Amino acid sequence: MAFALSSKRAAAAVSGRSSTKAVPAVARRSARSGAKARQSLVVSASAAPAKEAWAANLHVPGPSSNRVGLPQLITKEQVQSLEAELDQGASMAALRRFNDNLRAVPADRWEAVLRPVFNELTFNLESFNPAFTHCLLMVQRTIGVSDYVRRDMALKNLIQPLAGEYGMHNGQPQLKTHRELFSDFFASVFGYELQALMADSPAPKAAQLLFQQMMRDIGSAGGDTSAGALEQASYALGYNLAIEYLADYEKTWMLDSFRDLDARIFAPAGKKVDWIFLEVHAEGEAEHAAIGHAAVLNLVPAQHVPVLRRAMADHDRDFAAFYNHCANLLEQQL
Ligand SMILES: [Fe+2]
Repeated sequence: MAFALSSKRAAAAVSGRSSTKAVPAVARRSARSGAKARQSLVVSASAAPAKEAWAANLHVPGPSSNRVGLPQLITKEQVQSLEAELDQGASMAALRRFNDNLRAVPADRWEAVLRPVFNELTFNLESFNPAFTHCLLMVQRTIGVSDYVRRDMALKNLIQPLAGEYGMHNGQPQLKTHRELFSDFFASVFGYELQALMADSPAPKAAQLLFQQMMRDIGSAGGDTSAGALEQASYALGYNLAIEYLADYEKTWMLDSFRDLDARIFAPAGKKVDWIFLEVHAEGEAEHAAIGHAAVLNLVPAQHVPVLRRAMADHDRDFAAFYNHCANLLEQQL
């Protein structure tokens, strides 16, 4: 069963409305098969409309997901109660601290104060891409263990946020990648290329540590050597859900903070901030969280609730440490 998500509110409500967007000409051409389709490929270094339009599809378990003999799947209510635990978790407190400090950045020293944070964020934001890929692989490798339909529906959800990182959305020509959008945002604020920041900066230690922790935990059910393939996949799906759920708050909060900074510092200095990166994420992460939620519903057995809770708590702990480090970087210079 598929639902199209086209706005933040739609994601929260999980409506049954399907997308009415017109299919762009380039996408219609790409649907042709064989040599004709290859001839019509659009080659561009920076094809991107002014704003991304989301057309994600949410796939929830259907009748063929619940055939006799299969283990009972986790319920929506069970997943929601685990998500509610994140609302009270360490990451939320760290994000609040970070954003309070971000809003207090002094107008006369904003560049020196923000550079170390952007150095960490540049690595951190990209590091979620291999984390998403790893979660997807942990589900794929339950081939021969998990049910054919359940596995497939979970993956049909998971592939969309991952493809979106590389500018690919349902029914659209390929847009800018999120790395390109972040680079554009950076350059509009700082007035020079992101590559210049990376070349001048020390290794982003906190982001590197979080990346190592994410890859280690996702690949090993948090270091549980007794976990089988399906339990490892349940853990990875819980981890993925925690990433997406917290990212929704993270990006919405960050957009609000930068709007404050724009009013107080950037606009008066004549800067025109490129908002697409922040707007796309503030808008899109709620949909990604809904998709991560749906992926869990398709594959995780009810008996794996404790595995899911552990995965979400593991990410909450390590993500909080990263944002507390970023909050410290700001605090030291306020
Ligand atoms: Fe992204």
